Amino acid sequence: MAEPAPVLVLLGGAGDLSMRMLLPSLLHLEIDGLLPPELRVIAVGRAASDAAAYRKEVRRHLVDEPNLGDAWDRLRARLDYVAADAARAEGAEALKARIGEHSQLVFYFALSPSLFAPVTQALSAAGLIGEKTRLVLEKPIGRDLETSRAINAVLAEAADESQVFRIDHYLGKETVQNLIALRFANALFEPLWNNLAIDHVQITVAETQEVGDRWRYYDDYGAIRDMLQNHMLQLLCLVAMEPPSDLESDAVRNEKVKVLRSLRRYTPNAAKDDTIRGQYGAGVVAGQPAESYEAEVGKPSGTETFVALIAWIDNWRWKGVPFYLRTGKRLSSRRTEIVIQFKDVPHSIFGPVGDRDLVANRLVIELQPDEDISLTIMNKRPGLNGEHMRLQPLPLSLSLAKALGEEGGRRRVAYERLLLDVLRGDPTLFVRRDEVEEAWRFVDGVAQAWVEAGVEPRTYAAGTMGPAGVSGLIERSGRHWHD
Ligand code: BG6
Repeated sequence: MAEPAPVLVLLGGAGDLSMRMLLPSLLHLEIDGLLPPELRVIAVGRAASDAAAYRKEVRRHLVDEPNLGDAWDRLRARLDYVAADAARAEGAEALKARIGEHSQLVFYFALSPSLFAPVTQALSAAGLIGEKTRLVLEKPIGRDLETSRAINAVLAEAADESQVFRIDHYLGKETVQNLIALRFANALFEPLWNNLAIDHVQITVAETQEVGDRWRYYDDYGAIRDMLQNHMLQLLCLVAMEPPSDLESDAVRNEKVKVLRSLRRYTPNAAKDDTIRGQYGAGVVAGQPAESYEAEVGKPSGTETFVALIAWIDNWRWKGVPFYLRTGKRLSSRRTEIVIQFKDVPHSIFGPVGDRDLVANRLVIELQPDEDISLTIMNKRPGLNGEHMRLQPLPLSLSLAKALGEEGGRRRVAYERLLLDVLRGDPTLFVRRDEVEEAWRFVDGVAQAWVEAGVEPRTYAAGTMGPAGVSGLIERSGRHWHD
């Protein structure tokens, strides 16, 4: 008899995340020969369909790759489909029958967070969660601390924390990991990585896309729960954390939790001064008319599609260093970046003319649309500059991907790495329960302060960089957004 195979179950296998991200990532892993040879993939959906129709549907979503070879045939052979409601006992039993014998079982919850607990309970009752089971959950885990605790409690009943893989796909992005290499594999930066040399940090996740037909989910969550609680705070943690003792998952996650615990909680007064909440109105994006968020939702809404705020990390390293965070939908350009703005030189020797040229060093870690790390340093303008030495900023690109060309070249979707890590059982790039809960504590504080201070979203025109007041948030201290 054949050995039992590992099984990956995609709950929500016909949904948007599976079609847009998970299956294309599996195909790429297949092309590169990185999937366990015996792996079976079972998609679960509520729609009445069968394996043949499902495979066709998947193929329709996959982009033709130049180096596809027979990878699609191999992936197709792994794919199966079960029409079932996994939150119900009958559904879980039907799934169990299809899974049969297995060596390792991974459940990927590509589902709405409201289904995390009932599906876990149904799978557990069906005896599907054993020692060799892993549970992979998409963010957001809950809608606030309380609901996230309730979900985490159900998970903890069913499985050990080491079996739970909470995804924040930003952690799978190449440049995000490069940030760890940059900080801890170079002697150059770490001595400067503190309030003595760094003036402030900016983290921007700007999207041009609308909320569109995701509004049912989004309208209940808004930008602070959809982006700030997870992606933005994870980036902030990686910038701000102390050097971990090693790259073991708990060592890294312990350091991130310390940062989250040091985040200053918002009071209503601070929320009025230091946060901006926005919602897009109609406008023009990439030359095309764009409708307002409320037109997409079809009714008035008080949900923010934009947030900017100042975060303070109350610890030794970061005392007095503001972290400016902003994220929004329907902005003028798609850009995700972290800017480390260093302080001015303590004293200029270049006289009034050179002084005007002087720009403080800046490290820009760009995640999207391009992946690059660049350090702006001052140098002399070449040539005969008359009586005065003239200076100019010179961005040095530290990105190896460009230098490596094609080989370093193909940009992996973050999910490829994360899926592979789940199959291998490496939890480093996944979010631990206490991290999720600390992040909620901060975000709940912002939400609560907004309610108490009556901070409502201000409208901004789609295709701009957010509502009035966003520039002022940073400019009132003589600083500027890096645009
Ligand atoms: C998701 C959010 O987690 O991240 C979306 O739910 C957002 O609203 C997306 O658009 C952004 O991801 P990326 O990788 O395109 O920056």
